Amino acid sequence: MGSFRLPGTFAYYLFLAFGHWQRRLAFHFYMRKYLLLLLLAGYQATAQTAGPLTAHLDNVKLTFALADGRPTYAVTYGTKPVVNTSRLGLVLQDGRGFDGPLVLAGSEVTTVDDTWQPVLGEVKNIRNHYQQLTVHLRQPAAHGRRVDVVFRVFADGVGFRYEFPRQLALGNFVVLDELTEFALPADHQAFWIPGDYDTNEYLYTKSRLSAVDNSSQVKGSGEIAVRSAPDAQAVATPLMLKADNGLYVNIHEAAQVDYPAMQLHVDRASHRLTARLVPNAVGSKAFMHAPARTPWRTIIVSDKATDILASKLILNLNEPSKIADTGWIKPMKFVGVWWEMQVGKSDWKYAESIDTLDAKGQLIPTGRHGATTANVKRYIDFAAQHGLGGVLVEGWNVGWEDWFGNWKENVFDFVTPYPDFNVQEISTYAKSKGVQMIMHNETSGAATNYEQHFDTAYQFMNKYGYPAVKTGYVGRIIPRGEHHDGQWMSNHFVRVAEMAAKHHVTVDMHEAVRPTGLNRTYPNWLASEAGRGNEYNAFTVGSPPEHETIMPFTRLMGGPMDYTPGIFKLKGYNAGAPERQVHTTLAKQLALYVTMYSPLQMAADLPENYEAHLDAFQFIRDVAVDWDDTRIVAAEPGDYLTTVRRAKGKDEWYLGSITDENARQQPVKLDFLTPGRRYEATIYADGPGADWQKNPGSYAITRQVVTSKSALLLKLAPGGGAAVSFKLLGAK
Ligand code: NOJ
Ligand code: CA
Repeated sequence: MGSFRLPGTFAYYLFLAFGHWQRRLAFHFYMRKYLLLLLLAGYQATAQTAGPLTAHLDNVKLTFALADGRPTYAVTYGTKPVVNTSRLGLVLQDGRGFDGPLVLAGSEVTTVDDTWQPVLGEVKNIRNHYQQLTVHLRQPAAHGRRVDVVFRVFADGVGFRYEFPRQLALGNFVVLDELTEFALPADHQAFWIPGDYDTNEYLYTKSRLSAVDNSSQVKGSGEIAVRSAPDAQAVATPLMLKADNGLYVNIHEAAQVDYPAMQLHVDRASHRLTARLVPNAVGSKAFMHAPARTPWRTIIVSDKATDILASKLILNLNEPSKIADTGWIKPMKFVGVWWEMQVGKSDWKYAESIDTLDAKGQLIPTGRHGATTANVKRYIDFAAQHGLGGVLVEGWNVGWEDWFGNWKENVFDFVTPYPDFNVQEISTYAKSKGVQMIMHNETSGAATNYEQHFDTAYQFMNKYGYPAVKTGYVGRIIPRGEHHDGQWMSNHFVRVAEMAAKHHVTVDMHEAVRPTGLNRTYPNWLASEAGRGNEYNAFTVGSPPEHETIMPFTRLMGGPMDYTPGIFKLKGYNAGAPERQVHTTLAKQLALYVTMYSPLQMAADLPENYEAHLDAFQFIRDVAVDWDDTRIVAAEPGDYLTTVRRAKGKDEWYLGSITDENARQQPVKLDFLTPGRRYEATIYADGPGADWQKNPGSYAITRQVVTSKSALLLKLAPGGGAAVSFKLLGAK
C-alpha cells in the first residue's frame, strides 16, 4: 500500500533539511506523528465515508460526499436542485495534487451568527449568519498531503474554498488547474460576458447556457484594447443565471487574493461549468506555499431576483478591515476633466507625439490639451458652486503622447506635470474653494513601473492635498506575459490598496480585476471599473438600454463600480461621431446614482451641460453616496430595477428606478419611510414623449408631500427611469 511508504519518504525530506542529530530526533518525532495520523485518518475514513456530510440554513442545503475518493458537493434550495453533484479538487504541477483518490480525515460543523458594520456601504449593519462544514481530506498517494474544503452555508447561498494547512508534505506548490465544477441541473438563461484574461469590459449577452459561444464577440470588440479569450465557451464571473423553475443563481467568488480570477468553461450539452483559472506568464495558474487558501467560490440563490441584489454573502466571506484607523476614508462625488477627452473635445496628450519637439527639445503643444490650469480651475469653480467634493484631472502628467500599445515599461513617472498644468497653483486654488483634487495614475499596464513609483506618487498626493487616486491599466501587462486577472496582478492591486492606505489615499481602479468584496478588507479601495462603464457611450456605438439592468446582477455583485453616470447631453456630444448617443433618458442617468452602488460617484458630464439643466442637476447635488439602509423594491435582470436607500445618518431617502428598452409602470409603496413623518418627495421623471432614442432629454420634475402610507406610480419611458428624493418635512 502506498501509504506505508510515507514515513520513509519523509525521512528523505528530513535528511535534506536537517543536520545529523536533528535528523535523528526529527525522524522519530515525525514517524510517530504520521503513523498516528495515518491510523486516525484510516479510522475516520471508515467511520465517515458511510454517509454524506451536510450543512444547511433555511432553504439552502449543502451536501459533501466522497465518490471513489473524489470529493463532490451539491446544493439545493428547498426541494429544487441548484448545483447537482459536482467535482472538487486541484491539479498540482508535481503530479501529486488533490485530484487523486482522497480519504476523509474528519469534519466539523459550526455555526456563526454575528453582525458587523462596513466602513462605507449600502447598509449600516450586516448580519453574518452561516453554518460551516469543514471537511479534512488527505491524499495517501502523496505522503498524506492534507487539504480542507470549508463550506459556509448562508440563508442565501453557499461559499466554499480550499485550505492547505501548514504541513511538511506540502510546502511550495504550483496549481496547474482547479477542478471545481458547478453542475447546473438545466439549460438556464445566462447573462454573460466572455471569460477573458485581460478585460471585463464586454457587453452582456443573454442566452441559454447551451448557446454560449464568445468567439464573435471577442473578435468584434475591437474597442477593448487588450483581449485574451482563447476558450470560446468560457464566461466570466459574476455569472447571473435564471432557471425555468424560477430560481435565480449567481456564481462568483469572494476574497480573490494571491490567486488568479476564476472563469467558467461551459459544457453546452451537460450545463456543467468548470473553473478555469487565468494563467500566469509561464502557463501555470498559481504559486503557493502552505498554509494557504484559495478564494471562496460563491453560489447565491433565491427564488426572488431582489434577494440576489440584497445579498451580503460575498462581503461576509471577506476578511474584516485590515486598516485600523478608517476615519480618513471618505466617500465622494466628483466632476472631472475627463468626459471632454472621452468625446474628443480635448486630449490627454500635450503634443502630437514624443518626437514633435522645438529647437530647444521641448514638446510642441497641439493646443488641444485638456488638463490646463485654466480649464481645471473652471471645474473647481463648478464643483465648489454646486457642493461636489472633488475634481479629477486626467492627462496632467507627461507621457500621454505614447502611452499604450507598444508594451513600454517606463511611460509615466506619476509626478511630472505638463508645462501648462501648475500643480501648486491648482492645489492652492482647490483648497481655497473647499474642493479636493483627485489624482490620476494611468499605468498603461506597466504594473512594475507603478510599483517602483507608487510610494513617491502617494507622497506627491499628500504634498499637494490629493486624498484620492484613480488608477488605470490600459494595455498589455508588464511583467510581460502576465494578465490583468492573473495571480500576479491580483497581488499588485492589493499592494496598491495597501500602499495607498499607508498614505491615507483612497483608490478607484480602472481595468483592474473584477472585484470580489475586497472593499471590506481594504475600505480605502472605494471602487473599481472592471466592467463596461458609461464611457463606452462616448467612444463606441454605446450600450443598449438593458445594460444597466444587468450590471447590478453581474459586475456589481463583487463590489462598487465607478460607472460614471450623469450624462445630460445624450446626443450630439461627439463632434467626430455625431450619430452617437447614450441609450438612456436623462431621468435614467439620475436613477443610476441609486441603482449602481458606489461610495465614489462621478457627475460625468461637462459643466456647461449641467448648467443647461440645473433643476435636474439638483438630484446629483443631493443624492448620498453612503447609506444606512437599502431596499431592492423590484428587479429582473435585463428588464428593470428599482432601489431605494436611506442616506447615512439621516432620515432622507433616495430612489432610483430604471427600465430596459420597454416602457413600464413601477408602483412603489413608501412603507420604508418612518411612520408618522412627512416628507417632500421630489420626483425626477421621464417627461412627455421621453424615449431614449427619439427624445432622451425630456424630463419633468414634480413635488408632493408623502408619508409611509403613500404610494407612487412611476412611469418609465423606453430606456427611461425615475429618481426620487424624500426629504423630511418634520413630524405630523
Ligand atoms: C480607461 C479608463 O476607464 C478611463 O476612464 C480613462 O479615462 C482612460 N483609461 C485613460 O486613463
Ligand atoms: Ca476602462
